[in-house]
Amino acid sequence: MIEAAIYGYGNIGSGVAEVIEKNQDRIRKATGEGVHVKYVLDLREFEGDPVREKLVHDVDVIVNDPEVKIICETMGGNEPAYTFTKKALLAGKSVCTSNKELVANHGAELIRIAKEHGCNYFFEASVGGGIPVIRTINNALRQEHILNISGIVNGTTNYILTKMEKNGAAFEEALKEAQEKGFAERNPEADVEGYDACRKIAILSSLMSGKTVDYREIYTEGITKLTREDLLYAKKMERCVKLLAVSKLTQDGYLAMVAPVLVGRENPLYNVEGVFNAVSVKGNMLGDTMYYGSGAGKLPTASAVVADVVEAACFMGRHLTIEWEEEKAVLADMPSSRRRFFVRLEKDKVSESEAAAMFGVGTVVCLEELPAEYGYITPEMSEREFAEKFEKLDGAVARIRMED
Ligand code: HSE
Repeated sequence: MIEAAIYGYGNIGSGVAEVIEKNQDRIRKATGEGVHVKYVLDLREFEGDPVREKLVHDVDVIVNDPEVKIICETMGGNEPAYTFTKKALLAGKSVCTSNKELVANHGAELIRIAKEHGCNYFFEASVGGGIPVIRTINNALRQEHILNISGIVNGTTNYILTKMEKNGAAFEEALKEAQEKGFAERNPEADVEGYDACRKIAILSSLMSGKTVDYREIYTEGITKLTREDLLYAKKMERCVKLLAVSKLTQDGYLAMVAPVLVGRENPLYNVEGVFNAVSVKGNMLGDTMYYGSGAGKLPTASAVVADVVEAACFMGRHLTIEWEEEKAVLADMPSSRRRFFVRLEKDKVSESEAAAMFGVGTVVCLEELPAEYGYITPEMSEREFAEKFEKLDGAVARIRMED
């Protein structure tokens, strides 16, 4: 048996133990030996739980045990996960993680340390939960120049948006329902403000570019300002609003952003509903591909961690290349990027001809339910130009980006 340990016995960590136990037959076939969890690291005591016999509170017990070859890091957050991960890699133990925050912050460095010590740092579960999108980019698409990644990578916000769209719910109502069903945290900020999606697209953009895309430099807008009226307009336009995480190779570098976008029916992401995730990847030779599935949750995420454990077990003592260097990637300037915008305008403050004079010739969208206003789809313009006009405008109710 290959000995493993789990750092953090929360939702995902206990899921990893469950997947290893229940699918041991599959794991044995894949690895030839099978995987055994020797230790679980957690501060809690878990009185009466069988996990107690594996429980340790001191990371050094694991790091100093030469039998342990693979660690599953499911603690989340930067510290102490960063310190504990480094200790493991420096001791030549492979680490498989679901921790997107740590991967977004220190991915390239941890991959380098793994390389220097003949082991691996794998992070399939950090983006898209159970969807094997990272391994696909690293292995199946290595021959491609990836031109564009566009995805719905946050299940919580997609659930909320689906509820707002299908049931006419207000944002707060849909959020409350998501929390009651366990799809949103009690403090939902990281999801609804787009921070979670931002870290995930930073990871995907880094893999796309082979360099480090700093998540702090990615334009990020959440869904908290969206209203049921915005979604009524979307329906009228035969579109829906999705929180898209996008990274696109442009002449000026990688253009990455997270924002609500009006997506048309012809886009496969239009049909991604509820807590599901989907990531669409465009290669220069391959064209468009899309990966869809359970993007969050205990067992899908744990399954992705265990997929990494199997890979680490199959390539024990050998570092598998992941092209992601510490050097920073060049990012394109968001204000210069161009797209169309949908803007809601109050009729008595901005006439349709004034809107046309200001934004250029566009399309008017009217809703019977909202007689005092109208929607206007602008022609393509830069973010900078649009923002300057929108901010000066008395009578602008809301704006949403249109899909390119
Ligand atoms: N809160 C995240 C989501 C969990 O809703 O997608 C998975 O990363």
